[in-house]
Parts: sequence; C-alpha cells; structure tokens
Amino acid sequence: MPDPGRLKHIATLEWDALEADIRNCRACVLCEQRKQAVPGVGDREADWMLVGEGPGREEDQRGEPFVGQAGRLLDNMLAALALQRGANVYIANAVKCRPPHNRTPEAAEIGSCLPYLERQIELVKPRLLLALGRPAAQALLNTEISISRARGRTFDYKGIPVVVSYHPAYLLRNPQDKGKAWADLCFARKVMQQGS
Ligand code: URA
Repeated sequence: MPDPGRLKHIATLEWDALEADIRNCRACVLCEQRKQAVPGVGDREADWMLVGEGPGREEDQRGEPFVGQAGRLLDNMLAALALQRGANVYIANAVKCRPPHNRTPEAAEIGSCLPYLERQIELVKPRLLLALGRPAAQALLNTEISISRARGRTFDYKGIPVVVSYHPAYLLRNPQDKGKAWADLCFARKVMQQGS
C-alpha cells in the first residue's frame, strides 16, 4: 500500500535530501541485498533525461548508473549524438537498487520507487524523456508496452514527450537491432528540435 506520508515527503525533497532518502530507502525488498542504492547521475538541469531499468552488479558496487558494459554502449550512442552523461544529460533508473541476479524489477518494486523518479523528473525538468526498455517505459507511462510497437512514437509524461527505445543490455545480446536504437535516438533528437 502506498504510504501517503512518504509520497508527500519525497515530493518536497531537494537534490541532496532526495539522494540521501534514496540511499536510506527500505520501502521494498530490493534494499535487502543491495550494496548501495544508485540515485542517478548527470546534469541536474539537463534537456535529455534517460531512464533505465535498474542497477546491475557494477552499478551496485560503484553507485552510478550505467557504468558496466551496457553503460559503455550507452555512452557511445550518446557520443554519436554529440551528447555525454553530465552535459545536458541526466541518467536515472526505474528502480534505484539492484534486483538480485539482475532479474527484471517487479511492478510493485517499480511502483515503490516511482516517487523518486517522479521527483527527479520534477527537479530536472527535462525537455525529453528517453525510456530504455520495458520497465522504464512502464514506470513512466504506467502501462505495459511492447518496445517494438512503441518505437517511433511520442508518449506523454506530464507534458514532457517520452520516446521509447531498446535497453542497451538488450542491444548487447541483439546487436542486429543497434540500427533501430540509433534510429530511435535520431527520432528523439528530432522531437527535441521540434519542441524548441
Ligand atoms: N542497466 C540499467 O537499466 N541501468 C543501469 O544503471 C545499468 C544497467
């Protein structure tokens, strides 16, 4: 059951307090096996906000999102758009604690963590949200979607356009789809340019 007091509290937090709250969070079972929570990284006033699924082993150890193999691919994709983490890009995850054995986070875990993502989005005020993979899209759009069917369209999160693409870990397993992910990034750039 959502705790209305917790939701209200999170909705008032500024960056440092928000990150501290995330690091101390015990709202779902994912806290039990984490080394540390991984709040997010990047430019807190970014136009681009990327949302992944959840920390993996390396992220859990280092406390930063997308620092493993999938992260290197993501950085390369951003570089191809002349973007880099920390410069007009903020990166967060749908869940802030590593799911054991990198399993997909449960809907209830995504729901428990959602107030943090919502507050991060409210603080960053990005011009575009890029959802990487199904759990991220599910968190932002509150609905089950198929990535292959949702690509190339824009969705709405509280007035901010949302573009959906494949998760970089999926692309490592399915390199034949990298071209589609590149097309998605170009589509996102076009959406961003149209909005300016
Ligand atoms: N995969 C994610 O979704 N997020 C990370 O931070 C790392 C891998």
